[in-house]
Amino acid sequence: MPSTNPPSDNASALHNPWRLCVAPMLDWTDRDCRFLHRLLTRHARLYTEMIHVGALLHGDAARWLQFDACEHPVALQLGGSDPHDLASAARLAAQWGYDEVNLNCGCPSERVQRGSFGACLMREPQLVADAIKAMRDAVTIPVTVKHRIGLDRDEDYAPVRDFVGLLAQAGCAVFIVHARNAWLKGLSPKENREVPPLRYEVVQRLKADFPRLTIVVNGGIRDSAQVHAHLQQVDGVMVGREAYHNPWWLSRWDAEFFGMPDKALRVEDVERAYVDYMDRRFREGAATMGMARHMLGLRNGQPGARRWRQLWSDHRHKHLRPSQILAMHRDGMTQN
Ligand SMILES: Cc1cc2nc3c(=O)[nH]c(=O)nc-3n(C[C@H](O)[C@H](O)[C@H](O)COP(=O)(O)O)c2cc1C
Repeated sequence: MPSTNPPSDNASALHNPWRLCVAPMLDWTDRDCRFLHRLLTRHARLYTEMIHVGALLHGDAARWLQFDACEHPVALQLGGSDPHDLASAARLAAQWGYDEVNLNCGCPSERVQRGSFGACLMREPQLVADAIKAMRDAVTIPVTVKHRIGLDRDEDYAPVRDFVGLLAQAGCAVFIVHARNAWLKGLSPKENREVPPLRYEVVQRLKADFPRLTIVVNGGIRDSAQVHAHLQQVDGVMVGREAYHNPWWLSRWDAEFFGMPDKALRVEDVERAYVDYMDRRFREGAATMGMARHMLGLRNGQPGARRWRQLWSDHRHKHLRPSQILAMHRDGMTQN
């Protein structure tokens, strides 16, 4: 594990594997979305959607675990609470070649609460510590946690400090902290990403209290200036919705945050590369619209973006090969 204290723009910080991450997002960051993101940034760390251990241990594991080699570095996020099952699922993650296994302790949905995992695990730090230990005993890849800063209206610092402290003792060295409480009653998951106030100072305090841990901040981060500011305080930044809705932002990340030369990507080239990939997946049976939706924000702010989005989201085109839709777009351009 790299030493990341103090966080800064120095050479070791540039090589911190968690410096900039795209968040796990259910139904959004599937393998196709991650492929697109990888066309845009070589160095950001990508996360799968949360996959429940049951789906891996008793379902079609390959369906959830398959990914393209170009996606590295890529982390598998698990949902679950049973240490034995989590250890078995972590073993699968390692066997399939994932670079990290992350435990979800932040999802507030009612379905997840009924299953006693996600955010409500913050009430059971010892169980989570046992799970971390079991997973660490099972694999050599990093075992990390993504969590909230508290539950319901309790804004005390002590519970989250003790949660992190106990998991650190169990061997977890990387914490991705969504800087909001999870309100377990009365809010939808969407509201739980908007209504509980962002309190970045809690994440900074965790970094100050646990300087040897890698602390990654998440929640409400929408532009490069904010990323730079957070990187002065903590080790890494995880971006969710803004990365999904405005993927073109990712094309600047390698130069802006990883000290790489600017590759001056062109949106047409990224689109062409993603269409080639979609064609390949289409031949394997993947649905055009399900893949194309991930790139609908690619041309945001450019002339013709609306028409381009309409073309790629028009369900009358759903039986077409992606390259046929691209050809329609090019024909449309030449007729104008
Ligand atoms: C559609 C959607 C699905 C999400 N699914 C997950 C998930 O599977 N696991 C998880 O830890 N967080 C999930 N989240 C939360 C994000 O990872 C992230 O913590 C949250 O959106 C705050 O970051 P942001 O403000 O940068 O979007 C999801 C968010 C969205 C918008």
